[in-house]
Amino acid sequence: MNKKIKKILNKKNKSKIICLTAYSKNVATILDKHCDLVLVGDSLGSVLYNFKSTKQVTLQTMINHSKSVRLGIKKSLMVVDMPYNTYRNPSEALKNSRLVMKETKCDAVKLEGGKKIIPIVKRLIKNKIPVMGHVGILPQTDKKFTFKGKKLKESERLLKDTKLLENAGVFSIVLECVETKLSKKISNHIKIPTIGIGSSVNCDGQVLVIDDLIGLSQSKLKFVKKFVDITKMIENGVKKFKSEVLKKQFPKAKHSFSK
Ligand code: KIV
Repeated sequence: MNKKIKKILNKKNKSKIICLTAYSKNVATILDKHCDLVLVGDSLGSVLYNFKSTKQVTLQTMINHSKSVRLGIKKSLMVVDMPYNTYRNPSEALKNSRLVMKETKCDAVKLEGGKKIIPIVKRLIKNKIPVMGHVGILPQTDKKFTFKGKKLKESERLLKDTKLLENAGVFSIVLECVETKLSKKISNHIKIPTIGIGSSVNCDGQVLVIDDLIGLSQSKLKFVKKFVDITKMIENGVKKFKSEVLKKQFPKAKHSFSK
């Protein structure tokens, strides 16, 4: 088994697992120092391209961003989201995941879904492609983005889906917007780590979209916390640059070339 995956599995019930998304090398280089797992999420569709849905993200876009992220990753586990319509059946999933693994040198791929995708997950794992699961809100296919686990039937289905995914061999599962008590139940029910986003402290690890955490996006989602305001910092820098250029204080002789 991939040593980095083993390390993540070993953290269950010992230490929280730190995950963030990255879409490019410079950010990935910073995150790599502090994260266990860096995800090239298809959230890049809305974050970078203003797409209404992740449905519009293509495999080639994921590969391009992942290649950039790869350049910044040394120690953390790198996972790449398989975008919408690239894993509709086991052979399509295998062909596309192999391409992603080969082109990006990532450690694993992430797929959205429960029972329906089990044959796909099994085919990938049989072919030595590590898979991360993703249940709860499924941005690629859900019509409504409301939290999961309100109703008993939905909770039971999620509990079953996570067990099926574990049995199929995924090494970890993202729980997106899963109700607090249910995320505890799921995390206790399976032996592999759960990574929460909007799913309470009960998960074995947490993930956020990096642009939300640093305040580069203007996300108003309930589960987002802005830990720093990079927008303000960039604005301050840009204002200083503008002012110095206008006053001819920049560039100075030390920034210029002379014979
Ligand atoms: O696409 C993404 O960034 C994700 C995370 C939010 C889990 O799937």
